[in-house]
Parts: sequence; C-alpha cells; structure tokens
Amino acid sequence: MNETAATIVAHSRAKAVFVCTLAALAGLMFGLDVGVISGATQFIQKEFAVSDYIIGWIVSGMMLGAAIGAAGSGWMAAALGRKRSLMLGAVLFVAGSLLCGFAWSPETLVMARIVLGLAIGIASFTAPLYLAEVAPEYIRGAMVSLYQLMITIGIFVAFLSDTAFSYSGNWRWMLGVIAIPGILFLVGLFALPESPRWLLMRGRRDTALDVLLQLRGDPEIVRREAADIDEQLRRPQHGWHMFLENSNFRRSVGLGVLLQIVQQLTGINVVMYYAPRIFQGMGYDVAAQMWFTAAVGLTNVLATFIAIAFVDRWGRKPILYAGFAVMALGLGVVGTIMHLGISTPDQQLLAVVMLLVFIVGFAMSAGPLVWALCSEIQPLNGREFGIAASTLTNWVANFVVGLTFLPLLAGFGRAETFWLYAALNVLFLLFTYALVPETKGVTLEQIERKLMSGVRLRDIGR
Ligand code: BGC
Repeated sequence: MNETAATIVAHSRAKAVFVCTLAALAGLMFGLDVGVISGATQFIQKEFAVSDYIIGWIVSGMMLGAAIGAAGSGWMAAALGRKRSLMLGAVLFVAGSLLCGFAWSPETLVMARIVLGLAIGIASFTAPLYLAEVAPEYIRGAMVSLYQLMITIGIFVAFLSDTAFSYSGNWRWMLGVIAIPGILFLVGLFALPESPRWLLMRGRRDTALDVLLQLRGDPEIVRREAADIDEQLRRPQHGWHMFLENSNFRRSVGLGVLLQIVQQLTGINVVMYYAPRIFQGMGYDVAAQMWFTAAVGLTNVLATFIAIAFVDRWGRKPILYAGFAVMALGLGVVGTIMHLGISTPDQQLLAVVMLLVFIVGFAMSAGPLVWALCSEIQPLNGREFGIAASTLTNWVANFVVGLTFLPLLAGFGRAETFWLYAALNVLFLLFTYALVPETKGVTLEQIERKLMSGVRLRDIGR
C-alpha cells in the first residue's frame, strides 16, 4: 500500500470510530433516562402528594413505553432506516424530558415518562443494530462493550446531576435538564451516514458503496464487504416463520428471553430506581442518600471494566457464576442487617457497602454479558427477531420489577424483599449451570450449527 492509500485507510478508520462512538451515545441517553428518576421521586411525592402506587407508575411508565418502542422498532428500523429511527428516538427523548420538566399533574408525568420510554425502546434496539452494521470487524466487540459502558456512565451522570439539584429540591430541573444532551445527540446524528446494510437492502447500491468507502478507505475491503452483505441478504430474515416452524430456533429465542428475565430479576433496577429510598430506609438524611446514590452509579461504571477486561479471558460462565454469587451475598447481608435493625453508624455503613458489593456483582457479569449472549446465540436468519424478542422482554421484566418494589416493601417486608432477590440470584447459579452455553472464542457460525442440529443449549458453545 502506498503512502496516500495508507493515509486514506487511517483517515477512514478514524471516521468509523467517530461514527460508532456517536451511535454508542444512544447508550448514554438510555442511562440518563434510567438514572434520572431515582433522585426525583421524593420531591415529586412532596409536591403532588401522591401515593407510592402512583410513584411506581411514574417510575415504570418509562419501561412500559420502552417495551412498546422496542416492539415496534424492528419494523421501523427496516422501514425508515437506522439513522432516521435513531433521530425519531432522539426527538421523542427531548420531547419527553421537556414534558417531564413542565408536567402539571402526576398523570402528565406518567405520560411524559411513557414518551421517554418510547425513545429508549427505539434506541435500545436500533443503536446496537447500527453499531453491528457499521463497525469494522476489529472494533465490533469493543463497540458493544462501549455501548454498555455508556449506559452506566449515563446513569452515573444522572445521579450526579440529581444530587446537585437535590439541594434545592427542584425535581423539574432534574428531569428537564437531560433534554440538553438529548438535543446535542440529535444534532450529532445528522453527521451519521445511513447503514450500508440497510442501503443495500433498499437497493441504493451507489450510496451504500460510497458510505462503505468512507468508513473503510480501501476499495478492496469495500468490494468484499458488499459481497458479504449481498450474500446475507440473499438469506432473508425469516423471524416469525422460522419461530413457528423451527423448534431449534424456538430454543434460542426462549433462552434469550429467559436471560433477560434473569437479568432483571437480579434486582438491579430496584437499586437504580429506588436507591435514595433504600438509603433513607437505612436511616440517612437527604444529602447522604444522594451522595451514596452517586457512589452506586460510579461503582456501576467502574465494575463494568471487570467484565470488559475478563470476558474473553475467563469466559462467560465463570463470570456469571461469580457475579450471581456476589449479588446473592450482597443482598442477603443487606436483608439480614435490615432484619436485625440498623442502630449504629457501623451497621449503616456495612449496609451501604454490601449494596455496593451487589452492584459490583451485576456490573461485572449479568449487566454486559446478558446483552452479549442474547445476540451471540441467535442464528443469522432469525437474529433480528430473536434480539427484538429478548429486548422486549428486558423492558417488560424491568417494568414488573419497577412497579412491584414499593408494594413488596410494604406488603412483604423490607428484609424479606432483599432476601427474595438474594434467593433468586442463588437460583440463577443453577440456571447458568443448566442452560447457559460458554460462547468464549467460538464463532457465531459454530454456535448456529450446534443449535440447529439439536445439541443441548448449554453445549452449543464449547
Ligand atoms: C440493564 C438495565 C440496567 C443497567 C444498569 C443494563 O444492562 O439492562 O436494566 O438499568 O444495566 O447498569
């Protein structure tokens, strides 16, 4: 390769990284949205004098919207294209945030949260799809991890911003201010090219080749990649048909759905949505509640690096075993401390530390790994359908967990609720043993071959 050609390739690599980073920012929106509500609920409750039941709806309306958004986004990403779907997501995100900030009644807040949810449902399906389609092979894995990292950073930033606004108790600013990153994201999206795969699907060959050339720089690579995509497109997505007709495909869809239910039933979002309330229950004042919540966010970001560093070295299953065990331990101890009663500062602090231990357990394992496994186990022809099914499940289970936490605390008991989630995490050790395959270092084609020849799910990896 001569010098000019090498410069062009280097330039287009930089462009590909830029484009992927921009798209991964959808994860940041996702995180801001998840994180922003926890700090606001107690102030909302004060202003509108609403019950815990209504608070549960204000929290969980977002997940309901996200389930609807995720369900419709497969169709939308095909009809409108990936870029325009992401743009629609960003517009809804900005609209939902502003509506939250100006909400004049609890009902408007629930509506606004549903709109925000639609935005995130669309983004949580479309962004990973877009990333997988435009990222060059050598950074594809890193880009998927980057996306999960962005989610945790978004949550952390929202926790910090909530903490800053908590001194004035201004929940309207807490919820409204995330419109600003939303607008920046929307503006950034104009710089994204449409996905070459979608353009080829639509018969817009010249534009597709042009985009590929911008992102890869080398005409030879472009020619090969376009031929690969053509080949894949000759095997169209059969989703629903395949699901009805092929029992092996039903197994992988079922596993994806189960994995997402398991991820949510670890109890992670109980902490993400209600952390200040949990710290209040441990006897802390508002300022301490907010700062500890920020500590939860930071721990969540940092522990994600454990997964990024070790997932391809240790494999998926050992990390999941470790994660579920750590989560069970953390929640079990928190429940026990609550059962015995918290009376000294030492006991208070131990409860906080054990809650952080739980977060480490999640962020190093089920957080990133469930998303990775859900895309690895699906056969090529049914991949979009399979991922849509598991993403939708993530939001439905998320909704149920968010809505039932406060009633569980009131009806079942504080200690008992934490023990319940601890027990579920113990159960998930068995689930991992019995059903989860080890996909480390195995190509997707190998997994597909084993799945389709009827091999037990836990053996479709290595
Ligand atoms: C989960 C979200 C959760 C987040 C926390 C994601 O993997 O799907 O429900 O809020 O992790 O970091």
